[in-house]
Amino acid sequence: MEAQPSKGMDDSKTEDKGAAVDAELAKAIMARRFSPSLIGTETWEGYIFSDMEIRIKESTDLYGAVLWPSAIVLCHFLETNRDKYNLIDKNVIELGAGTGLVTIVSSLLGAKVTSTDLPDVLGNLQYNVLRNTKDRCKYIPLVTELIWGQEVHQRFPRATHCFDYILAADVVYAHPYLKELMDTFDHLCQENTQILWAMRFRLDPENSFVDRFRQHFHVEELYDLPSLSIKLYRAWRKDKWTKDQIEAAA
Ligand SMILES: C[S@@+](CC[C@H](N)C(=O)[O-])C[C@H]1O[C@@H](n2cnc3c(N)ncnc32)[C@H](O)[C@@H]1O
Repeated sequence: MEAQPSKGMDDSKTEDKGAAVDAELAKAIMARRFSPSLIGTETWEGYIFSDMEIRIKESTDLYGAVLWPSAIVLCHFLETNRDKYNLIDKNVIELGAGTGLVTIVSSLLGAKVTSTDLPDVLGNLQYNVLRNTKDRCKYIPLVTELIWGQEVHQRFPRATHCFDYILAADVVYAHPYLKELMDTFDHLCQENTQILWAMRFRLDPENSFVDRFRQHFHVEELYDLPSLSIKLYRAWRKDKWTKDQIEAAA
């Protein structure tokens, strides 16, 4: 009788395959990043979208003024899944947009984007957004302040601000506004809204945010990239949508 692989061997083969998929995908995603070949006065990072170069001005003195890997993961997903997640003419809001890469890529993919962050970050965000979307997009993104939990109901009333997608990259880390962030997701996410959220795992409190998030929303894992400590989630309201309905609408 032929020897059968033990269960343990099967498991380790599956793990090896998972690690290979992770490594390959992570490599493809990060290969989109490039840096200036000459040192100049401005610090910037480059990102390749289709055959275009996106240049992101960074500043090391602000948390939101650096391009984080989660943004690159989310942008890669949006570009490579543009048929299934068609952003053309869709209303999109980005939370914690930082240097603006996700806003820029969604706009290049045809969305009407509201790009939001803290007041201090908006100058650099607006600069990057204009520099990379002017004459390239159907809709110029709107850059505006959104401090999580503050006047969100008044500034973004549900009756007039209905978003197809909420995008967020690396907005959960050891800051004191996790409850306010959850309330903001909860307010902005309506019946037909889908959340696409790239999460970088650093510390335990972030894991408990994911657990609490699952209490409010249905969550599907789209990417698991252990080599980058990043997962990409799709989420939608628990009380409104079934997965089949979401898939039918995508
Ligand atoms: C780690 S950065 C990620 C930036 C960008 N999404 C990226 O991935 O490159 C976190 C972002 O959240 C923003 N942020 C932090 N606390 C916030 C708050 N209370 N309200 C709104 N935005 C906030 C920061 O200004 C920063 O742009």
